[in-house]
Amino acid sequence: MPHATQSLAAKDIAYTLHPYTDLVVHEQSGPLIITRGQGIYLWDSEDKQYIDGFAGLWCTALGFSEKRLIEAATRQLATLPFSHTFAHRSTIPVIELAERLIRMAPEPMTKVYFVNSGSEAVDTAMKLVWYYNNALGRPQKKKIISRKRAYHGVTIAAGSLTALPFVQNDFDLPIGRVLHTDTPHYYRHAEPGESEEAFSARLAASLEQLIEQEGSDTVAAFIAEPVMGAGGLIVPPRGYFEKVQEVLRRHDVLMIADEVICGFGRTGNMWGSQTYNVCPDMITCAKQLSSAYVPIGAVMISDDIYQALREQSHKHGVFGTGNTYGGHPVAAAVALETLKIYEERDIVGYVRRVAPHFQERLKALGQHPLVGDSRAAGLLGGIELVADKGSKQSFAMQAKAATQVVTAALRQGLIVRQLPGDAVGICPPLIIAEKEIDDLFDRLGRALDEAHKALASAAA
Ligand SMILES: Cc1ncc(COP(=O)(O)O)c(C=O)c1O
Repeated sequence: MPHATQSLAAKDIAYTLHPYTDLVVHEQSGPLIITRGQGIYLWDSEDKQYIDGFAGLWCTALGFSEKRLIEAATRQLATLPFSHTFAHRSTIPVIELAERLIRMAPEPMTKVYFVNSGSEAVDTAMKLVWYYNNALGRPQKKKIISRKRAYHGVTIAAGSLTALPFVQNDFDLPIGRVLHTDTPHYYRHAEPGESEEAFSARLAASLEQLIEQEGSDTVAAFIAEPVMGAGGLIVPPRGYFEKVQEVLRRHDVLMIADEVICGFGRTGNMWGSQTYNVCPDMITCAKQLSSAYVPIGAVMISDDIYQALREQSHKHGVFGTGNTYGGHPVAAAVALETLKIYEERDIVGYVRRVAPHFQERLKALGQHPLVGDSRAAGLLGGIELVADKGSKQSFAMQAKAATQVVTAALRQGLIVRQLPGDAVGICPPLIIAEKEIDDLFDRLGRALDEAHKALASAAA
């Protein structure tokens, strides 16, 4: 290892506490230090090149060298580096971004509240649901239902809605008033011979049973990612959201669409909600909102919700919530430019043009002996690894099958991410070209071969 990298690695080990990392292993392995990016490519401190097949963390839609975003940030920094949105203040980028977002959003959305991350957006959505029901004089109607294996972030409320043990263990989560219903994972949980529609109907019935058990006067909202991302790349079965929303309407339960991954073209529509017929009362978004060049997230709400909030805030004399950096003018300026680029370059149309090729290459991986299932929506893909394809038997935990694939992929110059349930997620920047898609899948194929050999020799 060159001296400069060695010295940086030593400092990283000495001073940095890394999220989603085994801290003991990190002391030995040290970091992979990424130093620069261009298009869909990244380079590390030893000048090794990688295809970023995960768009950072499902977020760098426009790749790593979009000059217009750099210029938008620089212009705003030079004009007004900070001003807030508390107590009637506003800025030009915030006003323009809010207008543009509402114009793009599904029908009932009328107002936007800006935050700095997906987790903050989800926490805020939860607070707004509670405030809304207090405003309506329904102080009991407060429980929020999420789904097992959902990922909604890590802050105390969002981390409670997230239903993955490694996010909650020893952090004393979840908090109260959070419930979890079934994962819509057809490959794993459908009964033999059950159609996707019948599976969806069964899950909707189970949701209804949960609401009735708890009492619908206590259940306020249901939150869902259109495609479940960090829980294992789980695409909803046919009819799922239609059936679920019939139940929600019957029990007067709000629908929150968590569009933090799916928003802004990822699934081949501007919103994942459009791809899967979700009619949300609230939307949370972040990540691709600024192509991740600066941190920004948002919560959008319907007019019905807004009407209740306005009355209640007037009663108190203040809408008593706010983040110093919510609606930061530099973040707003970059997000605004990002949305202009999406529109001018017809990013949704582009995703629709290249997604069939992406999905064809993904599906072909289904032939590989390690791959039990492959799932995709737009430019979002996942494979689930199995020890035995016929019986769908999983690998033992200790085999760390998905980690082996991801590590082999790194050796091949490809970044993908292991997800729960021995899944591997693929989520390239939306600007990826067809021949780059081929390069990505060629590298992933070689990584699967390498991991297959290693797993077979470990089992022998
Ligand atoms: C669907 C979803 N919601 C919320 C979050 C949390 O976002 P953040 O990491 O910006 O807090 C994520 C992060 O991956 C996500 O995938």
